[in-house]
Amino acid sequence: MFALNFNKITMPIFYGKVALVEFLNSVKSTDSTIGFVPTMGALHQGHLSLMQQSLAENQHTVVSIFVNPTQFNNPEDLEKYPRTLEEDTKKIASLDPSIIVYAPSVDDIYEGNVVSQNFDYDGLENQMEGKFRPGHFNGVGTIVKRLFEIVKPTNAYFGEKDFQQLQIVKKMVSKNHLDVKIIGCPIFREANGLAMSSRNERLTTQERDKASIIYKTLLEAKEQFKTLSCEEVKQWVKSVFDPNTMFDLEYFEIADEETLIPCSTILKDKNYRAFIAVFVNNIRLIDTISLK
Ligand code: PAJ
Repeated sequence: MFALNFNKITMPIFYGKVALVEFLNSVKSTDSTIGFVPTMGALHQGHLSLMQQSLAENQHTVVSIFVNPTQFNNPEDLEKYPRTLEEDTKKIASLDPSIIVYAPSVDDIYEGNVVSQNFDYDGLENQMEGKFRPGHFNGVGTIVKRLFEIVKPTNAYFGEKDFQQLQIVKKMVSKNHLDVKIIGCPIFREANGLAMSSRNERLTTQERDKASIIYKTLLEAKEQFKTLSCEEVKQWVKSVFDPNTMFDLEYFEIADEETLIPCSTILKDKNYRAFIAVFVNNIRLIDTISLK
């Protein structure tokens, strides 16, 4: 076992799957549960809240830290993605040193063949993030499936911040008959309402402050959805961002939570959700809110 030592706290950390699997086999018993939180690192309170939920609900918690190359459609985004393994492991250790960390290399995961598998998510992949980030969800499906095969978790925790990803992972699990329960967790926000994201670190103080408009707009859109049509709400959101030169609205969509199909007429028995992607000087931020 590799063990990291911070202030006399030792925490198990693995860089290779063989040693991780061996360790997991040695600690788990027939009735113990493994909670799993996959991440790309640059950890913040949002990630830690997922880990807290896993700790509360399972005997063992595994956290993976891996910047997955196949889910980046933009090479610059992949290159600039923050890699802060030492700080990340310290944050995890201070949350709970019993958490098992898996921080593999690209080779440990892809074994020399860095390509995505193709997935059919019944159309979930064609909306919003899928439209604007071609290949992204094949990359996500590939890594999540591979990590599930290695960790074999009982429960896996995903944030509603990436709601489309959460639905896609649920679909992938059901289509492949994987024996894991997917648990969606609430969005953790900064004090000004901005959804926490590793990308927020790249914003200036002023941008970070001004970016609070994203959540404020979602809250107002939720109010308007009570009386206006989907199209009217969409037009209003566009009118908020269009004159503002600091922001470039990529999409604002209102969609059915199950199918992610954009709403045209509002049906009583459906749950709707608003989704937004905005560039703040080249940094892409996403957020979402339930309209129920
Ligand atoms: P990453 O962006 O690091 O996010 C890891 C998990 O943390 C995801 O489930 C994400 O939805 C959740 N998360 C991020 N910000 C959050 C917030 N503010 N509140 C609550 N949860 C939040 O998502 C990925 O990595 C990758 O696509 C991954 C699933 C690890 C596959 O590579």
